[in-house]
Amino acid sequence: MSCILALESSCDETAAAVVDASLRVRCDIVASQHDLHAEYGGVVPEIASRAHLERFLPVIRAALSESGLSLNDVSAVAVGIRPGLIGSLLVGTSAAKALAWSLDVPFYGVDHVAAHLFAGLLRESSAPELSVADLSAADFPALGLVVSGGHTSLFSMSSASECLLIGRTIDDAVGEALDKAAAMLGLPHPGGPNLERCALHGDASVLRFTTPVLPNSLDFSLSGLKTKLLYAVRGVPQGRGSNSTFAHSSHDLTATRRADLAASFQHAAVKQVMHRLTHAASLTHPRTLFVGGGVLANQVLRRELTAWSLEHAVRLIVPAPRHCVDNAAMIAGYAQLRRQTDEVGDDLSMPAEPVSTFARGTTSKRTVKP
Ligand code: KG4
Ligand code: ZN
Repeated sequence: MSCILALESSCDETAAAVVDASLRVRCDIVASQHDLHAEYGGVVPEIASRAHLERFLPVIRAALSESGLSLNDVSAVAVGIRPGLIGSLLVGTSAAKALAWSLDVPFYGVDHVAAHLFAGLLRESSAPELSVADLSAADFPALGLVVSGGHTSLFSMSSASECLLIGRTIDDAVGEALDKAAAMLGLPHPGGPNLERCALHGDASVLRFTTPVLPNSLDFSLSGLKTKLLYAVRGVPQGRGSNSTFAHSSHDLTATRRADLAASFQHAAVKQVMHRLTHAASLTHPRTLFVGGGVLANQVLRRELTAWSLEHAVRLIVPAPRHCVDNAAMIAGYAQLRRQTDEVGDDLSMPAEPVSTFARGTTSKRTVKP
């Protein structure tokens, strides 16, 4: 069975995985660096790239041993080559190129956002054999939604290879906003999952947010929600600029108030995602919805999407929670999809890049009438 070994190191997860041609995940190793960055309240790029360097060899060895393969069984090597922290990307990219060159197998430089979008096609290792052509034969037109810490992108898809960017955030990504909201509430890094946990016992109706609507656009905006939360936590600032002071801090919050604010903010973020999706669906009439990205690990968002897809009779393709947050299985899976039509892969001179060309869209951004 033709297996692809993939590496992923775009941010703070050092990951290696093996996926076969039926998109079955043979192994999926993720070494998280959350502990290293927690004391700084966010990812420190220099620490992240050093940690990737230290962790990659053990992670690759673990992936091969868990999948029961030797390097000689690997038929291609893939890597998340963009977007991400450039120092981190360079570690994974250099390792993957060295492996592909030394094994004399094809190399695939994969766009991380594209890999998130198709992660829902990955399957358990015990699943029956299927051709990748069958697996990717979803009903089109489709909508695609990637919500992560670095990206909030909405795509109109006429086929798996034709994805048009129709909406994106004009300020913070949804995951980034959840992380910052968590920090404002005094919750530890990583913010998104801790905010979800805190919100479990909160009342989402305590702080009411208006969903921002941008004229003729499917774009997202999260920064206004953050300001509203900041004022709810710390009070309206006195004074201007660097001389402004707040009457309160997150330490003044009771556990109940913190949970209510967490639930309210999470509700507002999810509501905006669902609003844009409904608007996009009314314009494009999708038969399928592909979703992915770290925020899809959130149970509230998953429940909303499930209900939405039933109501709109749209097939939902959603990854398992472990394949929503950064992982290498999605990189290997996307490389398998590409391999159907491209057995040669990319040149080893392909550079790592901090930005996504995929999320810029295969064609220019379309204006959308409300
Ligand atoms: O896809 P990902 O691992 O990295 C990027 O490509 O950015 O996404 C990370 C983001 C972070 O902002 C994190 O807080 C968020 O996904 N996230 C969550 C949850 N798990 C991760 N947000 C809300 N609820 C969660 N359970
Ligand atoms: Zn990601």
